Amino acid sequence: MKKMLVCNQKMFLTHDEAIILEDEMRNVDLTSVNLIVCPSYLNLDVFKNYNLGAQDAFYEDKGAFTGKVSAYDLSLVGVKYVIVGHSEIRGNDTDDIINKKVKAILRNSMTPILCVGETKIDRELRRTSEVIKRQLKLGLKDVILENSQEVVIAYEPCWAIGSGKHPDETSLEDAVLYIKNILKQINISNYKIIYGGSIGKYTTELLSNKLVDGYLIGSSSVVLDEFKMIIKCIK
Ligand code: PGA
Repeated sequence: MKKMLVCNQKMFLTHDEAIILEDEMRNVDLTSVNLIVCPSYLNLDVFKNYNLGAQDAFYEDKGAFTGKVSAYDLSLVGVKYVIVGHSEIRGNDTDDIINKKVKAILRNSMTPILCVGETKIDRELRRTSEVIKRQLKLGLKDVILENSQEVVIAYEPCWAIGSGKHPDETSLEDAVLYIKNILKQINISNYKIIYGGSIGKYTTELLSNKLVDGYLIGSSSVVLDEFKMIIKCIK
């Protein structure tokens, strides 16, 4: 099965820059990966010919929620995946809110990409397993998947995001096996597990890992050379 490559473009691109990148991406051979592009809300339309993802979604369908964009609305403009619980947002969202978002994403026939991972302090205090367990159990509380539905779990250690650091292969595999074990305990059997955190052209060691189903890339998703190199390494 092709590896999933989720491009989290964060707030890196203006509308004009997104148009330029989309144009350049047309010349890249993407057939070897299952590419999902998560632009800013304003740039969703620019990437409409790709598998579209959003970077977050609100759980209510409609109403007086200033500044929010609902999962419902996103599903109507062709979004298929939504990142939820990203560490750059987790500070504002409790596990309960993340759980509501996961359910809203599934209710609107999209796939949640649930980010989990420990902070630097958690890691130093050897609390990685405890944190991952809590984030998975609360984030997926009472989630029952229908046959065609799946969840994507992105293991993203916070200390690895945007830092140029990443776990060694053994710690990554330990985390993936642990996540599988927790998902089994909570009866989630339709899932993919991907890794995110400082994947770039200088940190390609993890790109041939057999246990992960793909990668979530941030800053290197908007730098064409890095993006191309990542695709080449995944091949
Ligand atoms: P990074 O971001 O690849 O720039 O570290 C990954 C992420 O935030 O998901």
